[in-house]
Amino acid sequence: MMTQAFENRLFLTLNGDRISLKNVSPSMTLLQYLQQSRRTGTKEGCGDGDCGACTVAIVGRDPAGNPTYQAVNSCLIPLGAIAGREIVTVEGIANGKLHPVQAAMVETGGSQCGYCTPGFIMSLFADYYTGNVDDYSVEGNLCRCTGYIPIRRAAQLVTNAQPSDQFSEQLKQANLVLNSVTYRNDEQQFYRPTQLSEALELLQQHPDATLVAGATDLGLEMSHYRQTFPILISIEGVTELQHIEQTIDLVTIGAAVPLHTIESNLHGVFPNLDEMLHWFAARQVRNRATIGGNIGTASPIGDLPPVLLSLDAELTIANLTGTRTIPLIDFFKGYRQTDLKLGEIIVSVTISKSISENAVQRLAQSYKIGKRGTDDISIVAAAFVIDLDSDNNIIHARLGYGGVAATPVRAIAVENTLIGQPWTMATIQQVKPLLREAFTPLTDLRGSADYRKLLVANLFEKFFVEMEGES
Ligand SMILES: Cc1cc2nc3c(=O)[nH]c(=O)nc-3n(C[C@H](O)[C@H](O)[C@H](O)COP(=O)(O)OP(=O)(O)OC[C@H]3O[C@@H](n4cnc5c(N)ncnc54)[C@H](O)[C@@H]3O)c2cc1C
Ligand code: FES
Ligand code: FES
Repeated sequence: MMTQAFENRLFLTLNGDRISLKNVSPSMTLLQYLQQSRRTGTKEGCGDGDCGACTVAIVGRDPAGNPTYQAVNSCLIPLGAIAGREIVTVEGIANGKLHPVQAAMVETGGSQCGYCTPGFIMSLFADYYTGNVDDYSVEGNLCRCTGYIPIRRAAQLVTNAQPSDQFSEQLKQANLVLNSVTYRNDEQQFYRPTQLSEALELLQQHPDATLVAGATDLGLEMSHYRQTFPILISIEGVTELQHIEQTIDLVTIGAAVPLHTIESNLHGVFPNLDEMLHWFAARQVRNRATIGGNIGTASPIGDLPPVLLSLDAELTIANLTGTRTIPLIDFFKGYRQTDLKLGEIIVSVTISKSISENAVQRLAQSYKIGKRGTDDISIVAAAFVIDLDSDNNIIHARLGYGGVAATPVRAIAVENTLIGQPWTMATIQQVKPLLREAFTPLTDLRGSADYRKLLVANLFEKFFVEMEGES
């Protein structure tokens, strides 16, 4: 049984200073704390994770497990989640003279009104220490007045650096272990267990507790709606949830593995997963967001479920008495409703690497249609997998969709119709009317029901055309 000797302080390192926070709300965001403590260099734009004005750098793990600075949106991180961490804000980087990324922005004229600038600076700062600064470094930062060309030039000026300064030294000495946290203020409790058994015990003791992983969904409740959570259990320190394991046939991804690690460490294994991750949010969000959180939130417009459905992914779910495995398709029960029972945690996602027996070729791709390229919510997301035999006939078909129903879904009737058919434009034209009527999507401010129905069918045709173009 986990003992509950509560601390009433949270400790963190901010710009090199160790800070002790007493009696703060663990669901106050880091940005709110920075503003309240008069560290106003970090700006609030949207409060939603969309603009990057609030970007700070935290010391975390790169995909290889080594210490690195990661750009994150401080508007989404609850204070509980940064306990024991090192944070660098824009106030902490100049050190008597401009930091090289600041100097580059001055040189190229990368700032006009300056409101977005601290966020851009911190995104550039984080990647400066990887030696790889490019457009993607600032994909999660918006600027309304300077225009992006001077900012891109600044990025080009500081790429390929091999810094040797106090910050690179700090990385060498960084402690990456997330210690256990058991914190309470007057009204709220925050736990960060380090073992799965502890997390499950806590869930049993506190059935009403809210699990939090990267907080890129829940952080919106805290930031935008100022919601407090009586009991939060963070799973980002749980070691069993942190690994990606590969065998010849299978890939198992721990539920708390952040998306930036998946996109890097599994690159090339599942092409339609690669493609979707490319369009998933932006750097700051992918540094924190987890695969388990994307499934656990059960959003009908979550982008990974359509891909994982197309790959017949399975979930391993644990409670105190053991684990069970279910196909992902059985997990989503209704709008934001899942098969998770009280006291259960998603532990991992398993995907087979094998293609169907008798198949000579697998075709796979995914598509995300939003109002803008990066950092936007899907209107419709689609992911397809087709296995072909040596006669070019379809012997396995998976068509996963998001944004067209109350849950992520597969077009199962159409999949069945495709089996045995030749992989030709005639077959595609034959199933397109079926696809248009496969779902009854809603009309909302992002797109009409009719538009979504057209996308369901037309994206499959696009898939065919693209695959034929490649063969
Ligand atoms: C600016 C912005 C852009 C975004 N863009 C996209 C996008 O392009 N595509 C997209 O799909 N989403 C997007 N999101 C939503 C969000 O980033 C994802 O859903 C993300 O994967 C959530 O992961 P997380 O670890 O942050 O979840 P959290 O916010 O920590 O948790 C989300 C939910 O899942 C539950 N949960 C978490 N882990 C587990 C677990 N192991 N077992 C059981 N339940 C669990 C939590 O209790 C909570 O209810 C965006 C969000 C923001 C703020
Ligand atoms: S304030 Fe816009 S991303 Fe945080
Ligand atoms: S400089 Fe004004 S918003 Fe970017």
